[in-house]
Amino acid sequence: MNYDAVRESDPAVADALVGEVERQRNSLQMIASENHVSEAVLEAQSSVLTNNYAEGYPGARYYAGCEYADDIEELAIERAHELWGGDHINVQPHSGTQANQAVYLAMLEPGDKILSLDLTHGGHLSHGHPANFTGQLYEVEQYEVDAESGYIDYDAVREHAEEFDPDIVVSGYSAYPRTVEWEKIQEAADAAGALHLADMAHITGLVAAGVHPSPVGVADFVTGSTHKTIRSGRGGIVICDEEYADDIDKAVFPGGQGGPLMHNIAGKAVGFGEANSEEFEEYAAQTIENAQALGDRLQEHGFTLVSGGTDNHLVLVDLRDSHPDVTGGDAEEALEEAGIVLNANTVPGETRSPFNPSGIRAGSPALTTRGFDTDAMETVGDCIAQIVDAVAEDEVDAAVEDVATTVDDLCAEHPLYE
Ligand SMILES: Cc1ncc(COP(=O)(O)O)c(C=O)c1O
Repeated sequence: MNYDAVRESDPAVADALVGEVERQRNSLQMIASENHVSEAVLEAQSSVLTNNYAEGYPGARYYAGCEYADDIEELAIERAHELWGGDHINVQPHSGTQANQAVYLAMLEPGDKILSLDLTHGGHLSHGHPANFTGQLYEVEQYEVDAESGYIDYDAVREHAEEFDPDIVVSGYSAYPRTVEWEKIQEAADAAGALHLADMAHITGLVAAGVHPSPVGVADFVTGSTHKTIRSGRGGIVICDEEYADDIDKAVFPGGQGGPLMHNIAGKAVGFGEANSEEFEEYAAQTIENAQALGDRLQEHGFTLVSGGTDNHLVLVDLRDSHPDVTGGDAEEALEEAGIVLNANTVPGETRSPFNPSGIRAGSPALTTRGFDTDAMETVGDCIAQIVDAVAEDEVDAAVEDVATTVDDLCAEHPLYE
């Protein structure tokens, strides 16, 4: 990965690209929404399809020259059906957010009502936050996780739905470490006569591998990002019943997007193909075991996990009990210096600003792709604990030096993009 052609044309960009390769190789990527795609996915994504205009859908394009684009989009759709089932799948959304946008555009009128999880409790901006178009166009009320248990209180969601009478109930989350009981959200939606959008953004790969229950066949609409646990080309998908197929397709294009990013769709096709394997099922199961090993180790070090653990690929640490003077931002910064890259995150009942909240969120998908096992994850847990303790004691430099050596060893044992 030298980016020689880029270097010849643009050395500054080549330097940054090579720097990014080295950063990913030499540090631990624990942002829960990130992963390392295969070189095959990278190659497909950087293919000549970036030159192609394929407005429309396979067999019904607005431009000539779409023979191969059609082949690729059909392969992506066919493989997506193998992974997730469903009546109809649109693989064109440029991102998970735009997949959600397509559902809202197809089904709601401005002023309609959305019921979704609050951002600080693990929800997503595209579920009705005031800074997002959803918060500006629609009337939004939000549910929360139970303050004590950290779990979604499905009875409360149902009561809220009955009271608020939403047009759509949104499930699927950004920072929720527990299994989502899609049927219970469906019951809440049914009780209000509302539609149900299940946004499986983070857990697309876990659902595809069968290690998390699937919302397909339960919710009216299922959306997802295609570059998180599923490790394919960057973008989004919408899965829906046949009755909504035309409306969704029109809402994706021309409703919300122009020409599809066919190079990304090629990356989706390749990544979906890779995911349709026993190896990927093992990967997904290991991803969960690794997050659990990390969570257990952090708890042994005295950290509090929201909900007391995890069923999926992420842990959410509430620092307020164990390290009351350490903010998520302080922890994130010191950990990054030591080569551990994760993000500060709000926690349920947040008392600090969202810009420097009280928690950190750590995910296992990218490290599992590198071949980390539960022993390695325990070592990572020790490293995180050492750094956060050092932040509390104001002795960061020595801890960073020490942990950076362990991080170097872990990276050398689990090489990336060789
Ligand atoms: C629940 C949820 N929905 C949507 C998204 C948006 O995904 P994208 O970045 O692909 O737009 C995210 C991103 O992390 C998410 O967590």
